[in-house]
Amino acid sequence: MKTYRDFDNYLKNFPDDKGYFGEYGGMILPPELVPAFEEITQAYLEICHNARFINELRRIRKEFQGRPTPVYHCERLSSLLGKCQIYLKREDLNHTGAHKLNHCMGEGLLAKFLGKKKLIAETGAGQHGVALATAAAYFGLECDIYMGEVDIKKQYPNVVRMKMLGANVIPATHGLKTLKEAVDAAFEGYLKEYDDAIYCIGSAVGPHPFPMMVRDFQSVIGIEAKEQFKDMTGILPDIVCAAVGGGSNSIGMFEAFLSEPVDIVGVEPLGIGNGIGEHAASMKFGKKGILHGFESMLLQDENGEPLPVYSIASGLDYPSVGPEHAYLSDCGRIKYETVSDEEAIQAFFLLSRYEGIIPAIESSHALAYAIKHAQNQNSGSILVNLSGRGDKDIDFVYEKYGTGEQFLEEFTNQ
Ligand SMILES: Cc1ncc(COP(=O)(O)O)c(C=O)c1O
Repeated sequence: MKTYRDFDNYLKNFPDDKGYFGEYGGMILPPELVPAFEEITQAYLEICHNARFINELRRIRKEFQGRPTPVYHCERLSSLLGKCQIYLKREDLNHTGAHKLNHCMGEGLLAKFLGKKKLIAETGAGQHGVALATAAAYFGLECDIYMGEVDIKKQYPNVVRMKMLGANVIPATHGLKTLKEAVDAAFEGYLKEYDDAIYCIGSAVGPHPFPMMVRDFQSVIGIEAKEQFKDMTGILPDIVCAAVGGGSNSIGMFEAFLSEPVDIVGVEPLGIGNGIGEHAASMKFGKKGILHGFESMLLQDENGEPLPVYSIASGLDYPSVGPEHAYLSDCGRIKYETVSDEEAIQAFFLLSRYEGIIPAIESSHALAYAIKHAQNQNSGSILVNLSGRGDKDIDFVYEKYGTGEQFLEEFTNQ
């Protein structure tokens, strides 16, 4: 087991040059796609040290995205729960309403550098799709977004936003018609036009270099949050936590804290139970396996085929997870916990009512963990990455749960 003291030189050594974090990661692809991903790797390794690229990305983050996003102290919510203080890193205030734009603008800039004409991606909740469509509009590129038919219905406001931004939204109509199927379809689309397009995977998953590249672009979250938290309180938080779908907002938040004496918790969706097809908790219930060109923890059947997954949060229902998470869990540096649909929805309503912030259902999972933790503590602090805002979810939540009185009552009666 490793402690924070073992992580001083971590970023220099992980991943290795084949894209492995320990035994997880890699570039496991049909031979015809290998040159395309190698081209992306070479280009990224070159530009990530290039002063013009770094300065341009800094300018975009400040002037276009509105970074740095603030850290916010939830005073009313914390005092409702007890003495432990909850803080939020407000990625919901990043332009387009979620953390996804952090890597999309980097990937768009990389596409320009490579002379590509089109950005291709999948999306679950639609946040990555909106962020990529935004990047495409900003850089003057075409954009194809693949999205499961089920998610198209559930996240309709984001579908409209993508179309307004000029993207083609292409439905994935096979299987469960959610995120995994959207990734399958996007890979197929990319295979047909990789000379002119670049595949911008929506999370810290996929073949090398994406888990590394997405992590690097997202690490701005934790770098900012650590300094902001220290400026506000003079110390570090006791715990940082974030919701884990594919793992991009969480790895971006966690990286800066790996070498600090801080507990780190990734929160997975337990959905409606621990049976097959009832959750999407790949770290908790998965085994090592291969999906979409990389090796990681995978919810799989006895033949290695991905199992059906479910979460109320469209952005969390993926049967695998970024390989770096699998590695950091094996090291014992990050702990993975689960939160059910109901707990996430309760957190959604509590933050809305007590702080005036409507969170994305994905982010509500991390918040629900913080709420449970705070109820059992007499002191300390927990910093939550509020990965996105909940505007995309309000129609769905309102239809299913109204304005949440039942959840709020249940909570205040506890
Ligand atoms: C707001 C928000 N948070 C979290 C996630 C989960 O993705 P990841 O684990 O890559 O951060 C998503 C995915 O769509 C999202 O939209």
